[in-house]
Amino acid sequence: MAKTGLYTGLDIGTTSVKVIVAEYIDDQMNIIGVGNAKSKGLSRGIIIDIDKTVDSIKRAIAQAEEKAGLKINNVYVGLPATSLQWERCSGMIAVSANSKEITDEDVFNVAMAAMVRSIAPERQIITLFPQEFTVDGFEGIHDPRGMIGVRLEMSGILFTGPKTIVHNVQAAVEKAGFHVDGLVISPLALAEAILVDGEKEFGTILFDLGGGQTTTAVMYDKELKFSAVDQEGGENITKDISVVLNTSYNSAEALKINYGNAYPEHASEVEAFPVDVIGKSESVKVNERYLSEIIKARLEEILLQAKEILTSLNVFDLPGGIVITGGAASIPGIIELAQDIFNVNVKLYVPNHIGLRNPVFSNVIALVEYAANLTEINYIVESTKVSERFMPVANNNNYADQPIENNLEQNVYQQNNSDDYHEEETFEKGENLVQWIKNKWSEMFD
Ligand SMILES: Nc1ncnc2c1ncn2[C@@H]1O[C@H](COP(=O)(O)OP(=O)(O)OP(=O)(O)O)[C@@H](O)[C@H]1O
Ligand SMILES: [Mg+2]
Repeated sequence: MAKTGLYTGLDIGTTSVKVIVAEYIDDQMNIIGVGNAKSKGLSRGIIIDIDKTVDSIKRAIAQAEEKAGLKINNVYVGLPATSLQWERCSGMIAVSANSKEITDEDVFNVAMAAMVRSIAPERQIITLFPQEFTVDGFEGIHDPRGMIGVRLEMSGILFTGPKTIVHNVQAAVEKAGFHVDGLVISPLALAEAILVDGEKEFGTILFDLGGGQTTTAVMYDKELKFSAVDQEGGENITKDISVVLNTSYNSAEALKINYGNAYPEHASEVEAFPVDVIGKSESVKVNERYLSEIIKARLEEILLQAKEILTSLNVFDLPGGIVITGGAASIPGIIELAQDIFNVNVKLYVPNHIGLRNPVFSNVIALVEYAANLTEINYIVESTKVSERFMPVANNNNYADQPIENNLEQNVYQQNNSDDYHEEETFEKGENLVQWIKNKWSEMFD
């Protein structure tokens, strides 16, 4: 099915909040609005002040609205991979209709059945990613609707995260006045969007070097196999420069961007630049090699930390090597430094969209692509987070922070044995859930 429609991605980063509005026409993505506002309220990738974050979100979205010439109401939001966990899950139900033709409702019910498991009280389900369906023992089905069967099974991957993080992201977006259409796990979207098929299948390591955190992900067999977050990033480099050169944070940031290099061998010992030193009226000359040594020290620490974990996973012989992106990956010399440390092939990923050829935008573009690639099956499975029963009602098409783990077992049992859900249906007969959600969604852009 060709992708069509408008999608807005929101990446709430430590350094900046990025927004992209993309219009898809017959699978073709056109970016029609962009926003990028300085971020306040986050530390090391995590929201620590909701009100300040709300303000940054509003500013970034206002910019994107102005450029796109439309009002944004709904967004797909990136979630950091901090303390992310996932596991395989599966569920089985008896097909409900007398005709035994599998419907949207059966897909909904089998997804609910797959989610029946105990989850620690401080964690919540972020998403259930369906992998395959089995109808009466026949495996490998992507969309069982319309098929005839008695027994429907689904296997998938269930992602959970800390309630605090998920809640704060959701709360900040809603308080800013926007509706969360979906929470998207950032490294998952990034890996899906920027790695080519072969890299996803045969294996690749992905680094997102942000301002406040560095995320390492491993993709293999077309699945996210591993992710880890190190709460250090480009802002730590800037702080190091500020401390070592005794200059303000802002001037350290400017030095990093204008003269920085991660590979001292490539930095000049002769070329020098003026630095405004705190407490001195005259600026001091510092050479590029010295600045580069400061930058390298922090980046080396970050990359060596990742190396230690990746070595234990034994993934350095994956054919895709390493792909690096994120704002801090813009620094010249990063490829050479990473190649020296890991001794594998390293590539820098820079988005290829006009006006966005900067790795700070990799994540937000990935969010939009991820959203646009969601299938009808994803929509149905995702709707289990809206309601515990298959009964879309007006205004509840938000994937809110529902305590779905409570009473789930009991509810799944009830769904499979009850017909009373029809009473609460408000969508037209003949209009399926997916169409209903899409219609609701497009109404919001009218
Ligand atoms: N040209 C450049 N050279 C060096 N560093 C850069 C350059 N451009 C951006 N950066 C750095 O990239 C970082 C911001 O990257 P990014 O926007 O990906 O982070 P974020 O998404 O806001 O934060 P996080 O993902 O860690 O929460 C900042 O530390 C910034 O200094
Ligand atoms: Mg980021």
